Amino acid sequence: MKRRTPVYINILIVLGLLLVVFYMFSQTSDFLSTRFFLGTALISIIVVFIQNAIGDLIENEKFKKLTDAEKATYLADKKIPYFQYLWNGAFKSQSEKEEKDILIDHGFDGIMELDNQLPKWWLGLFYFGCAYCVLYVSSYFLTDFAHPYKEYEQEYREQTAAINDYMATVTQPTLETAVFSEDNVEAGKAVFETNCVSCHGEGGKGGIGPNLTDNFWINQPEKTLFKNVFYMVDNGSKNNPTMQAWGKNGVVSGFDMQNVAAYVYHINQEQAPITPAQGGAAPQGTEAHWEKSK
Ligand code: HEC
Repeated sequence: MKRRTPVYINILIVLGLLLVVFYMFSQTSDFLSTRFFLGTALISIIVVFIQNAIGDLIENEKFKKLTDAEKATYLADKKIPYFQYLWNGAFKSQSEKEEKDILIDHGFDGIMELDNQLPKWWLGLFYFGCAYCVLYVSSYFLTDFAHPYKEYEQEYREQTAAINDYMATVTQPTLETAVFSEDNVEAGKAVFETNCVSCHGEGGKGGIGPNLTDNFWINQPEKTLFKNVFYMVDNGSKNNPTMQAWGKNGVVSGFDMQNVAAYVYHINQEQAPITPAQGGAAPQGTEAHWEKSK
């Protein structure tokens, strides 16, 4: 008669599986104190005890049918601590008679095959895997669990909220505090391509809005080119509402104005102008004499 797994080990296994499954679905450890988890754990423990009690009854019945010698070995076996029993079992080899009973009728080159029973741990893992697979697949298709798009959207929303929080606390550059930096040119290009390119053309060559690469400017409220661009983006043009007040209207942030001003400075001062011959818009306004400091 086989020795049964002690009840406390079954309880540990069941609790372990519950922890894995609950964690998998909630992705945080918050479930530990929920009534749902505690209730499930309690019911599972009760079920394990019931299963154990039924096992005791069956074992008693079987025990009665054993011969005296078998009873004696069974009782002697039972005295060995469970883990030692498992350990011994791992190294036990079958007697010749036992081997004959499970010998499969084909062999090759003297190698014989035995029809051994699958180990319990292996079967346990296999059944767990099957159940887990059904659970996982059905919850994947029927619930919101583990949807990559949903998770992505959620994280995206959290990150934008975090960025907004940060932006709300940090002081944005203003016309007075904004400074030119070569490092902002790339970011400024992105701002330009999102907001400005539709009117000021590819690379600032001009279109509905003036050519931003030449040295002729309609609006010259500031003394330096960088500040002038910042001012124009912040306040828009007084003469022409087509150029709106991007900053004052809250469309473009202080950081983005600082970036786009750096980009316009870059295409105006650090690159050759795009002339009408190259597809640029004709100069508008008067020639500018910017102060050198940025
Ligand atoms: C809807 C079209 C439009 C968009 C979009 C637009 N602008 Fe303008 N912008 C204009 C027009 C038109 C003018 C000329 C205003 C005037 O005549 O005073 C102008 C003028 C300017 C000037 C001053 C040029 C000068 O010669 O006085 C700057 C600098 C400028 N825009 C930068 C930008 C930047 C940077 C963006 C993106 C954040 C942008 N603009 C988006 C239409 C636009």
